[in-house]
Amino acid sequence: AEIMKGSFDHFMQKEIFEQPESIVNTMRGRVNFDTGKVTLGGLKAYLSTIRRCRRLVFIACGTSYHSCVATRSIFEELTEIPICLELASDFLDRKSPIFRDDVCIFVSQSGETADTILALRYSLERGALCLGVTNTVGSTISRETHCGVHINAGPEIGVASTKAYTSQYLALLLIALQLSEDRISLKERHQEILAELLELPTKIKETLSIDSELRDLAKNELLKEKSLLIMGRGYQNATCLEGALKIKEISYMHSEGILAGELKHGPLALIDENMPVILIMTKDSLYPKVQSALEQVSARKGKPIIICNPGDANINKNFRTIKVPQTADCLQGILTVIPLQLLSYHLAVLHGVDVDFPRGAANSNWDN
Ligand code: G6P
Repeated sequence: AEIMKGSFDHFMQKEIFEQPESIVNTMRGRVNFDTGKVTLGGLKAYLSTIRRCRRLVFIACGTSYHSCVATRSIFEELTEIPICLELASDFLDRKSPIFRDDVCIFVSQSGETADTILALRYSLERGALCLGVTNTVGSTISRETHCGVHINAGPEIGVASTKAYTSQYLALLLIALQLSEDRISLKERHQEILAELLELPTKIKETLSIDSELRDLAKNELLKEKSLLIMGRGYQNATCLEGALKIKEISYMHSEGILAGELKHGPLALIDENMPVILIMTKDSLYPKVQSALEQVSARKGKPIIICNPGDANINKNFRTIKVPQTADCLQGILTVIPLQLLSYHLAVLHGVDVDFPRGAANSNWDN
């Protein structure tokens, strides 16, 4: 195992730094940048059925669920099919109704998560078309679904999912692109996304280059804190939830993802000069609304650390910033999650946690 880690201290760290390549592997042989065509071989025979379904139901746990939250909006925009998101455990608890004309998408890095498998079997019994998005060829979920997409991120050994998240995110986006390939009105939108996909590996590398800045932030400011709130909205909702999950899962620090649209409905009460906050404020159509969240937080003497795009002149120099390159709105979450992965990693190491095997992790076991 030591050899496989190469120059890295932990698998999690290695996997975070593999993302410029793992993202390329997810696209390999599937995205033709000359013609703009996306072809996922595993879905070919089912495309017309999927396009005609009455709704798409995404079912997953943990980080995999967050990849569904991250891509819901672009799915709705490109396919105009109604979307439901389900945590596998809650879906099963509710015995949620599923019909023959539903398409269920099961997202799982391992392909072996107990609740996701049980939700798959439940949906198969009810006659839905079941599609798997997994990282593990031959896994239970890839065998028992009708069709699917392997994300090809390469084995993920660290229990905290990192490169699988960004590859799931991308694979789901590719599905949405392929489902909507014939829609003339979306031609420009497709081209914009494809152009940014081409740049993505370089932009991931750029994002990773701020690693030491995040280690310093962890060490000098956040390590002594009890709690960290991560705020954003729209495309960044998923990043907030995923960033907070990473921090809880491996550094055992309390962290909460706060959807900024809900700030005034309760969470604002937590803000004072002592509460650590990270605010994601990248440039998309919701930017003005995030600016107003920043004003509300500032009015309560909060002093958030801001994840933003470079050259954002609106952000007061008094704020500490973490800069990530700008990309298409629907891809920005692939970049904004990286500083949070790095931050959680450094917090965990500084706390002396066995990063690759934290307590409470329940990947493939049947007793969760
Ligand atoms: C466990 C892990 C999480 C992971 C979740 C789902 O709880 O600790 O990091 O996101 O399982 O795993 P899956 O293999 O289905 O993506």
